[in-house]
Amino acid sequence: MMHWLRMACSLSVLGVAVAATPFVLSSVPARAFFHDTPDIEGGRAIYAARCASCHGANLEGQPDWQSAREDGTYPAPPHDETGHTWHHGDAMLRDYIRRGGQAVLDDMGVDFTSGMPGFGDELTEDDIEAVLAYIRSTWPDRIRAAQAERSQLEAGSP
Ligand code: HEC
Repeated sequence: MMHWLRMACSLSVLGVAVAATPFVLSSVPARAFFHDTPDIEGGRAIYAARCASCHGANLEGQPDWQSAREDGTYPAPPHDETGHTWHHGDAMLRDYIRRGGQAVLDDMGVDFTSGMPGFGDELTEDDIEAVLAYIRSTWPDRIRAAQAERSQLEAGSP
């Protein structure tokens, strides 16, 4: 209950910001506001090159992803709305991509053998943000809003 109320609250704040934007943009070049907008097309290319082999070309994950293999690892989950990527806030997702599943789960005290490699040596922070932006861009609005809410809670903001 609380969750949905809070979401409605942050969405109405967003509505006000969007409504006010045209006045601001009329005097300042739009580019100034968007210089650090994540690079969704770049993220799509990174995803295709480094993530699609496991998580699927269409973010559909591997077959039977909810059942453990014999070695205790799990197949890669989907990143679309049928998976659980959007149940996690941005900080956790970035950490998972940067350090890999094993390091993150070990830190959390979770006894689990991860099949998710770390990409911190190959991808910059901007690359990681771009690939996350690409994944988010494929979600319907309500899923994006739910995940944004999760990120805010995770960051400790109201
Ligand atoms: C070798 C296969 C493999 C590759 C390549 C891979 N992953 Fe994963 N990933 C997994 C598996 C398996 C999991 C499930 C959790 C676990 O085992 O730790 C996972 C979990 C995740 C999670 C956390 C859980 C969730 O539901 O989202 C994120 C985020 C993620 N992967 C993103 C990526 C991104 C981004 C890339 C490319 C840069 C990538 N993965 C490449 C196998 C892979």
